[in-house]
Amino acid sequence: MAQQVRPDEISRILQQSLERFATEVDVFESGTVLQLGDGIARVHGLQNVMASELLEFPGDVMGMALNLEEDNVGAVLFGDSTHVREGDTVKRTGRIIEIPVGDEMLGRVVDPLGRVIDGKGDITTTETLPVERKAPGIIDRQPVREPMMTGLKIVDGTTPIGRGQRELVIGDRQIGKTAIGIDAIINQKGKDVFCIYVAIGQKGSTIAKILQVLSDHDALEYTTIVSATASEPAPILWIAPYAGATLGEYFRDSGRNALVIYDDLTKHAWAYREMALNLRRPAGREAYPGDVFYLHSRLLERAAKMSDDRGGGSLTALPIIETQEEDVTTYIPTNVWSITDGQMIMEPGLFYSGVRPAMNVGLSVSRLMGNAQSDAMKHICGPLRADLARYRETLAFAQFGADQLDAATRQQLERGERMAELLKQDQYEPLPQWKQILSIFCGRHGHCDGIEVDDVPRFETELHEFFQREHAEMTVRMDEYEQLSDEEMEALTAAVESFKLSFTPSEAAA
Ligand SMILES: Nc1ncnc2c1ncn2[C@@H]1O[C@H](COP(=O)(O)OP(=O)(O)O)[C@@H](O)[C@H]1O
Ligand SMILES: [Mg+2]
Repeated sequence: MAQQVRPDEISRILQQSLERFATEVDVFESGTVLQLGDGIARVHGLQNVMASELLEFPGDVMGMALNLEEDNVGAVLFGDSTHVREGDTVKRTGRIIEIPVGDEMLGRVVDPLGRVIDGKGDITTTETLPVERKAPGIIDRQPVREPMMTGLKIVDGTTPIGRGQRELVIGDRQIGKTAIGIDAIINQKGKDVFCIYVAIGQKGSTIAKILQVLSDHDALEYTTIVSATASEPAPILWIAPYAGATLGEYFRDSGRNALVIYDDLTKHAWAYREMALNLRRPAGREAYPGDVFYLHSRLLERAAKMSDDRGGGSLTALPIIETQEEDVTTYIPTNVWSITDGQMIMEPGLFYSGVRPAMNVGLSVSRLMGNAQSDAMKHICGPLRADLARYRETLAFAQFGADQLDAATRQQLERGERMAELLKQDQYEPLPQWKQILSIFCGRHGHCDGIEVDDVPRFETELHEFFQREHAEMTVRMDEYEQLSDEEMEALTAAVESFKLSFTPSEAAA
């Protein structure tokens, strides 16, 4: 029995399947991997994709759309690209990269996507924030005005950093750059400054050591480590500092204070260069893409002291740059140099001659200077930079004929040498303000002049112990921001004099 053909039904069925067909291969919402290599996927389709949108590849691999071209999309992969094959389907997510934020992140080690990597279990936070965020505008900011002390005499005394400031730490490898950042973190204990240490392209073992150090000094409880080791794909290294900034902004925008260390931005720029070359973006100077300046400027602009209307919180940034053969004039160092509020220049010559921290005081600057120092510190340290500069000048001069120096010059040299000795400091021993004030006061006012240089470190330690024991009320006072009054200065001098009477020079020195 022949069935009757009903044209309207057939056309309806055809129409339906056509409609379904259209949604199945929606070139606007999904696409196909055309080409794969070097952690980059070229995707056909995805015509509605947004710049920086997160993409979903098979096998739980995430990617990010970076190059939006006419007939394809260039995406970087954040995971193991061995699971991805040509012809695979790629889906839009409609989201951009976000990281969980919150107090729950403290004490933990995460990767730049916020995934836990310390084996201490899941982190449950209620909030996530985009990794790339716009820096606050000028209306939302106010000038930096409170100190962010590192606990290092040489830094706080000559190149003070303020809350909301960006201070570059620059120098060759293995001369104590990371040490400055770690000491600064340890010094924030009990100061309500939350810290984020971002490790970019370092060895896993180095990060494990830093984790141990922070934990040993009870500094982990207020710190988050964002780790992108050297073995991660370049895109992971690339987003690491932005993720760190977002974690810090959470504190900044809730009226609190945060400190973030980017260790280091040289490797960050390398990762970005690798990505950009693989994406076939045009290469410029030193093969970096043209927007490498923006790479770091948009990151460092996120450090800020917020206006009182916006809660008055702050985010301080200490970017680290590693140079080669002390050359600070190459592309990346000069870029970062120009977007920070000062730089600490670390020198191998100083480091290997035992001057540690190996900061060159003459070349290092903090453009906020007085605004970043408490009145108490300003009062005591005021002309310290100038003192040291004069000392170095005289020292260079004296090498031509030390025997012909007059008494005043000899005294200046002697005092300078002791001051330099006092500014040396071991790692992991950041000092509270009162101890710094005591040491710098003694050095500047010649209280160590009669002491042998070798005895200076012991003199300093015993001086601190003496004050702790005999003048506890003075130590409390010297920890405050307010300048010491004339009477207090007199009392301080008297106390130091009495300590000197009790100090016994070592036998070798006597
Ligand atoms: N103030 C210091 N006193 C003594 N040793 C230090 C000091 N600062 C750093 N070091 C040591 O110097 C080495 C290099 O320091 P690190 O901070 O890792 O250098 P960088 O980050 O510049 O490569 C480390 O072994 C570190 O322990
Ligand atoms: Mg380092």
